[in-house]
Amino acid sequence: MSELVTLTIDGVEIKAEPGTSVLRAALENGIYIPHLCDHPDVSSVGICRVCIIEIEGRRPTVSCKTPVEEGMVVTTSNEELEKTRKINLELLVLNHDYNCQSCAKNSQCKLQELTRYIGLDEERIKAMREPELPHEIDDSNPYYLRDLNKCVLCGICVRTCEEIQGDGCIDFAFRGIKTKISVLGDKPIAESTCVTCGECVTRCPVGALVPRREMEPTYEVETICPFCGCGCAIAVGARGGKLVSSRAVPGSPASGGTLCVKGRFGLSFVNSPERLTKPLIRKDGELVEASWEEAISYVAQKLGQYKGDQFAAIASAKCTTEDNYVMQKFTRAVMETNNIDHCARL
Ligand code: FES
Repeated sequence: MSELVTLTIDGVEIKAEPGTSVLRAALENGIYIPHLCDHPDVSSVGICRVCIIEIEGRRPTVSCKTPVEEGMVVTTSNEELEKTRKINLELLVLNHDYNCQSCAKNSQCKLQELTRYIGLDEERIKAMREPELPHEIDDSNPYYLRDLNKCVLCGICVRTCEEIQGDGCIDFAFRGIKTKISVLGDKPIAESTCVTCGECVTRCPVGALVPRREMEPTYEVETICPFCGCGCAIAVGARGGKLVSSRAVPGSPASGGTLCVKGRFGLSFVNSPERLTKPLIRKDGELVEASWEEAISYVAQKLGQYKGDQFAAIASAKCTTEDNYVMQKFTRAVMETNNIDHCARL
C-alpha cells in the first residue's frame, strides 16, 4: 500500500490515499462539500462546478477533479466560494422542472439537497426562467421514464452507460442552451441500443430517469436473483405482501453491485395472476389442474418407460445448487444417461 498523503481541509488535518480527489477525501472524513456531477462509481468530469474549493496559493478549482497532495491547505467555504457556488447552482436549476411535489424523486433528489444547503433566490430564478418546459417525456421504455425537463446535465448517466455497462448508447447532444442527453439520431430511448439494465436510472441524482413503478416498497429483503447462475445479490422491496421493486446490493461479489434488465425489472412474474402455482396434466388434449401427489405419480410412471439416451434433462438456474445436484445425480444414476444441461448455459 502506498504512503498516505496528509492535507488540511478547513483546518482539520486528514490523511488520504494518493490519487483520491479532495472531494472524496473530504467526504470520507466527514467534511461535506456540496457536489452533483460526481459519483463514486464513475470517473469525475467536473461539470457542475458546485464542489468549488480554494487551495492555498492557487485559484479556486473543483474538488472532484483535484487529487490530494502532501501539505495541501484547502478551504471549502468562504464568502467568495459560496457566491460562486450559488451562481453555479442557479444555472443548474434555471430550466429544471420545479414540480417537485409530483416528482417521483421528491425528497430523494440531489438538487433539492443542494438548494436546501446552498439556498436560492427564488425571485431571481423565476425572472430568468423559460415559461415552457421544452421536452416531451420519453415513455418509450417499458421500465423507466425519461424526463429531460428535470435533467441537470451532470452526465452521470452517460458515464454509467459507457464505463459500467459498456453500452455507450447515450451522450451529450446539441450545443449551448439546447444541450441535452440523447441517443443516436435523437430518437426515443426504446429505439436506441439501450439494454434497459437500469444502471443509469439508479444513479440519476434527480427525477430525469425514474423507474415505472406503481408503488414504493415499505420494506426490503436481501436475496439472490433467480434468473441465471451468476448469483447476483438483490434487495427486493415489498408492499402489502406484493413484490414491487428490486435493486442491486452494493458490493455483491457476483455482480459488483450492478444488475441486468431481468434482475432489476423482471420480477413482476412473482405476483402475476398468470403464474402457474399448481401442476397441470394434459388429459384428452386439455391441460387440467392436478394435485402435486397426482402429478408426481404421473411423472414417475412415465419416467419408468424411458432409459438411457431416450431421456434428457434440462435443469434450471431458478433451483438451488442442491436441487441441481440431485437432478444430475438422478439423470446419471437412475436414468443412466449424461444427457443433462442447464438453462444458465443456454
Ligand atoms: Fe465537482 Fe460537479 S461535483 S464539478
